[in-house]
Amino acid sequence: MFIKTNHQLAYLSKIMNYYKITKPIYSTLLLCALSTHLSFSQNKTQSLKSAYQEDFLIGTALGTEHILERNEKANVLIKREFNAITPENIMKSQLIHPAPNRYNFDLADKYVEYGQKNDMYVVGHTLVWHSQLPTFVGKIKSADSVRIFMTEHINTVAGRYAGKINSWDVVNEALNEDGTLRKSVFLNKLGEGYIKEAFELAAKADPNAALYYNDYNIEQPAKRKGAIELIKKLQASGTKIDGVGIQGHWSIKTLNLKDIEDSIIEFSQLGIKVAFTELDLTVLPNPWDLRGADVNQRFAESPEMNPYKDALPDSVQTALANRYTDIFKLFLKHRDKISRVTFWGVNDSHSWLNGFPIRNRTNYPLLFDRALEPKKAYQAVLNLKTAK
Ligand code: XIL
Repeated sequence: MFIKTNHQLAYLSKIMNYYKITKPIYSTLLLCALSTHLSFSQNKTQSLKSAYQEDFLIGTALGTEHILERNEKANVLIKREFNAITPENIMKSQLIHPAPNRYNFDLADKYVEYGQKNDMYVVGHTLVWHSQLPTFVGKIKSADSVRIFMTEHINTVAGRYAGKINSWDVVNEALNEDGTLRKSVFLNKLGEGYIKEAFELAAKADPNAALYYNDYNIEQPAKRKGAIELIKKLQASGTKIDGVGIQGHWSIKTLNLKDIEDSIIEFSQLGIKVAFTELDLTVLPNPWDLRGADVNQRFAESPEMNPYKDALPDSVQTALANRYTDIFKLFLKHRDKISRVTFWGVNDSHSWLNGFPIRNRTNYPLLFDRALEPKKAYQAVLNLKTAK
């Protein structure tokens, strides 16, 4: 007998009452029913978020289709597996603040509502970034006007969601690969102090949100050194910074666990939390690995750069699962330093890596496949916590 819901349980007891089933038989039947009910709900709680609930949050990036709950299967999966969300694009300034005095809050409001309704940790991504900026910002000539844009933007966006966003990626990707500060409209017009200004504005607009610096490749030594310097400067000037986000756009071929471990340790020694904010693992060849290769459209049509167009061979599926196992073992080892691990997308068809750095490829970087079914890598990550 399969009793799956409380409703069915209540129904069973009504039937028993109706047929005047005696108390001892009733109790035995009720016990049986209860135990199937319990074991079913235990199975139901087998999910990433429940398996890792004592360790760190498990998040995903949501696209518009997820926020609007357009695909029921994805919707069920997101609510079952994840307890943290990041908006993949809709809070970036280009989308939320497209013209000087115009803001599009519609999707961002829905995103925040979705998170609250489902009791999720809600991340804001991102307040200050050189990329996906509205075109008008690039045209600003004076430092004062850039400052006005940045100030109004942070006050308005972080202010609107104050108390509802758990953590903000305040500044995104401010560093070059060698650890120096990246040239951007912010650095060029405001000087390096713009980072401190941005954090201070965010802290004022939403005093309760955890404030993060977020970047890619900051697990690599030179860039990591730059990030540490940046964070130390903020701290030395009394600016609030709660954590660092290591994006985690990695590859199954070049993954460097030592760099990742060193980074977790060194960043947490600064007294801040470490989050992995955009985790995905490409299984495809990277154009930058080919000596002398330009990143351009030529590769889009090249079968060599898109080797798994129709399916992922078992050997690569296994390699992906093994790499995810290695990463999560390391994360578990340092669970006391890690606040959150967020995947950059819900499933393989949603991943930005199908279009970056080469368009129109078929990539397999996440834990759920194109049919929204768990992959071997999902089982591997789950097994680390649930296998006896
Ligand atoms: C990516 C999105 O996934 C794409 O849909 C978009 O076209 C470009 O941006 N670092 C970040 C993320 O901080 O915001 C980026 O997201 C991926 C790299």
